[in-house]
Amino acid sequence: MSEPLILGIESTCDETGVALVRGRELLGDVVATSMDEYARFGGIIPEIASRAHLESFLPTLDAALERAGVGLADVDAIAVSAGPGLIGSLTVGVSAAKALAASLGKPIYGVNHVIGHIAVDELIDGPAPEHFIGLIVSGGHSSLLDIHGLATDVVELGSTLDDAAGEAFDKVGRLLGLPYPGGPHVDRLSQEGDVEAIRFPRGLAAAKDRERHRYDFSFSGLKTAVARYVESLADAGQEVPAADVCAAFSEAVNDSLTAKAVQACRDTGCDTLVIGGGFSANSRLRALAAQRCEAAGITLRLPPLKYCTDNGAQIAALGAEAVRAGVEPSPMDFAPDSGMP
Ligand code: KG4
Ligand code: ZN
Repeated sequence: MSEPLILGIESTCDETGVALVRGRELLGDVVATSMDEYARFGGIIPEIASRAHLESFLPTLDAALERAGVGLADVDAIAVSAGPGLIGSLTVGVSAAKALAASLGKPIYGVNHVIGHIAVDELIDGPAPEHFIGLIVSGGHSSLLDIHGLATDVVELGSTLDDAAGEAFDKVGRLLGLPYPGGPHVDRLSQEGDVEAIRFPRGLAAAKDRERHRYDFSFSGLKTAVARYVESLADAGQEVPAADVCAAFSEAVNDSLTAKAVQACRDTGCDTLVIGGGFSANSRLRALAAQRCEAAGITLRLPPLKYCTDNGAQIAALGAEAVRAGVEPSPMDFAPDSGMP
């Protein structure tokens, strides 16, 4: 008998994603985004995002089914992002998923969006090893996870104490007058800059923090150091070397992320690191992680850019993993949880 067909639904933030997965095979995956609406506000407006999900859901569902060459009646189970995320956005996806589950008489799995960023890798690189380390970096999260089973046994080793990596990039982008979201712009500029030109501090590098926060990150001090540097030049009437600032800032963030991820692999005896989340599109993160993993004999699994940003495939992949692991479906009255740990 073939493996069950899972319909995955994503709506935590500004992306409406629907995908169909059978086993670890991605059959169809469509994403609509309302990000273009937010450039003029400099940030996501939750009410606009919720309304956009409502408008995009049915067309996205139809397109995903068509791309997968299946009908709704073929679906065996439904997986939906239950959190964390914007509550209005989550409510649209969860309500749609419940309506589908009820009308089709199929089980529903409310799954963790953040873990989905790691689960999607199985659709690209095949089954993950029994035990591995996950590094999730996005606009809302920077976490190191010790994973023995994506749907059953995930322990958070550490996370950011303040800003997420993507958030810090967005803030530095704003500081330099770049369009929102600043992350990709700062990344592009950093490639033209000199990493050595300025030395910014690494968070939690002080002796007192080193052991206590072995796997935690902190980027707000770094962001403040960048702000001070830019202000001092501006006050002196000097031009800000934006590319050098971006390169040095990016180096500081990615130095911390990759050093701690490799440390976690060493400490737990894992030989595989999976990186996921919107920030894993960052060019320096990809290069530095590849370099340091190779030096440490660690296999690096990094999904292609398309699967780093929010999508339905990550949710369908995690739903498929839950079904494989024999996890109980969620009760029909489960509520989305915007602050899900
Ligand atoms: O995972 P994601 O799509 O959304 C959530 O935050 O859940 O991540 C988006 C974040 C934004 O902060 C964006 O600026 C950042 O990832 N980002 C990048 C790059 N591409 C996206 N940051 C740095 N370099 C990039 N190439
Ligand atoms: Zn995400």
